[in-house]
Parts: sequence; structure tokens; C-alpha cells
Amino acid sequence: MISFGNPYSSYKAYKSEIDQAIQLVINSGSYILGKEVEAFEQEFASFNNENFHAIGVANGTDAIALCLRSLGLGFGDEIITPSHTAVATVAGIEQAGCSPVFADIDPVSRCMTPKSVIQRINSKTRAIMPVHIYGQPADMPKLLEIAQDKNLEIIEDCSQTHGAEINGSKVGTFGILAAFSCYPTKNLGGTGDGGVILSETLELAEQIKSLRQYGWNNQRESVKPGFNSRLDEMQAAILRVKLKHLSEDNRKRREIADRYDEAFSSLPVTLPHRPQNQLHAMHLYVIECDQRDELLKHLRSNQVGASLHYPLAVHQHVAYSERIRGGDYLPVTENFYQKNLTLPMFPELSDEAVDKIISSVRTWFSSQ
Ligand SMILES: Cc1ncc(COP(=O)(O)O)c(C=O)c1O
Repeated sequence: MISFGNPYSSYKAYKSEIDQAIQLVINSGSYILGKEVEAFEQEFASFNNENFHAIGVANGTDAIALCLRSLGLGFGDEIITPSHTAVATVAGIEQAGCSPVFADIDPVSRCMTPKSVIQRINSKTRAIMPVHIYGQPADMPKLLEIAQDKNLEIIEDCSQTHGAEINGSKVGTFGILAAFSCYPTKNLGGTGDGGVILSETLELAEQIKSLRQYGWNNQRESVKPGFNSRLDEMQAAILRVKLKHLSEDNRKRREIADRYDEAFSSLPVTLPHRPQNQLHAMHLYVIECDQRDELLKHLRSNQVGASLHYPLAVHQHVAYSERIRGGDYLPVTENFYQKNLTLPMFPELSDEAVDKIISSVRTWFSSQ
């Protein structure tokens, strides 16, 4: 079976560098929040924008909660976000004590639409949390206009878009804060859990550094209630190696996407949208097709590990149904979930595997 993602192949691609980095950490005797984390934070910030600050944390869900908490947001504060995202986005919002509110998505970009965001704003709205989904940046210029006009914060969920750009600027540098997951399957993934936050201001970065470790100040006095959300040295060392190769890995992903795009352009499927002014991180290659279930069955019986990456939108999960504002009217999101199908996508996917995936998809359509 050709798997749809493959973190082990990413380890093998940089094995000697990673093995050496791990050994150095073990020999150093310093395992949590040490020199590797500091170096990763500096390198990640300068990869995105040298004026920003990065803070390593334990995972992407905590990153979201820490962003909200550092802004003083909590009980009673509403955060507008899409239901078309990982459950983690909403779990992070609730972990901070805030209330998520769902907005609908655009059928082309599959990201939250500014129009739907405006419809959801009320007197309790404090922030907008766009999710750049599958590597595709959301409409940040318009969302920023809304945020400015309504005096709201923007916190970007960049867990699926490390390295994506809009007009030459990296995603994660548009909002006041941005949360990234470094889960193993992500474009910048470790060999365990990890996350990182980008902050425009030093003040917020310092707040988050304190919150990630029990709300401590420099004297280890808890000056506010905090979390334990530390990034460990081993993951930071591995992420430093992966970061060096991230742009090249993303380029390889886009090359695979180019081959898919070309091969499927005449088929009755909707393909990922890649506008000229954006650099797509191509985290996942997701198509939409009317007979999705039949195509999925055909691909799997041909050893192609296609999948429904998200079988349900967040508002369709038992834990969230009928209790989140906005969840009762998301027609574009619901339509998308009836049709979406994810094809294998990772930088080490071989040419032969891509050939096989393409021919399996094309064979099914020509048999219809
Ligand atoms: C869009 C999105 N947000 C947040 C997260 C949370 O990340 P983590 O699994 O590291 O907590 C993920 C990862 O699954 C994600 O894809």
C-alpha cells in the first residue's frame, strides 16, 4: 500500500544528521528547554520573519491555547474559526476557556470566508482564528481588514502551512500570534509531539514563555496560573535539522502536486487551488469528487492509500454537535465533507508511486 503520509521516510531522508543531533542531546545531559530549543526558536523565527519571536511548546493544541491565554482571553470570549479543520483547533480554543464560533468556508480555497466571519461577529467576539488548511493560505488581507475595523485580534492556525506565503510573506506573520503543530506528519514534523508559536511582539513572547512553564518568572515564582507545555531538547534538535530542509521538502511536495494537477485537469474533480500570489505548502493533496466513496474503494483495492483525512467537520462530531454557535449553518463546509478525498503526499513519494496513483485514478474515471 502506498501510504498517504510517511514520517519514517522523512527520518530516513536525513538520518545521519538526525542521529547525530539526537546523540548530541543525549550526551549534553540537558533534555528540556535548553540550548537546542533556544536555537530552534531563533532559527524558526528568522525562517519566517527576522522581526518575529518564536516559542517552542509541547504541541499545536497547546500552542493555540497559549496564544489565547497570553492575550488575556478566556471565559465568555468568542473566537471565530472554521469547522473545516482538525478538532485540535477547537480543542485548543476551549482549553483556553474561550468559546469557538464556526464560520463557513470558501468552496475554492476551502478556508474560512471573510463574509461568513463578518456574519458571526457579535459583542462577545474577541478574535478570529483562520486555519490555513492543507497548506493553502486563508484570505489574510481581507481578514486583517475586518479585524482592524472591528478591533479584533487575529491568531493564525498554521499547523498545516509551515513555509507557505502570501505575496512573499510567510503565513504566521499576518496575525498578532500564530500557532504551529510539529506533529510527525506535518511539513515540519518531529519524531514525537511538538509545537511552536510565532509572536510579533517580545512582550507576548515572554508572556508565553512564562505560561508554558507554570506561569514562572525568572525566580521560578508562579506569577500567573500556567501550563506545562515545554518543548524537549530532542524534538527541538530534530526540528532544527528538518527546518534546514523545509523549503526543499515543500518544493518537492509542490512538484508532486504539479504532476497530479496536470494528470487530473480534464477529470470531473475539483483540485487544490494555487493562486499566483501564494506559495502553497501542499501539506495534503485533497480533491473533491461526486462519487468519492467508489473512487476511494477503487484506490484502496489498488494499494493506493487514499483516505478521508477528516471524515467529519468539527461540528459533526458528537462532542461538538449542536453546542457551538454557527454550527447550524455551514452549507459549503457540509458539501465539501461529502466529496473530499486525500491522495498520498509527502516529499519522499517516488516517481513510480506517483505514476501508480495517477494511473489508478485515471483508470477509475475511464471505466465510468
Ligand atoms: C489545523 C490544525 N490545528 C491544530 C493542530 C494541533 O496540533 P497537535 O496535534 O500538535 O496538538 C493540528 C494537528 O493535527 C492541525 O492540523
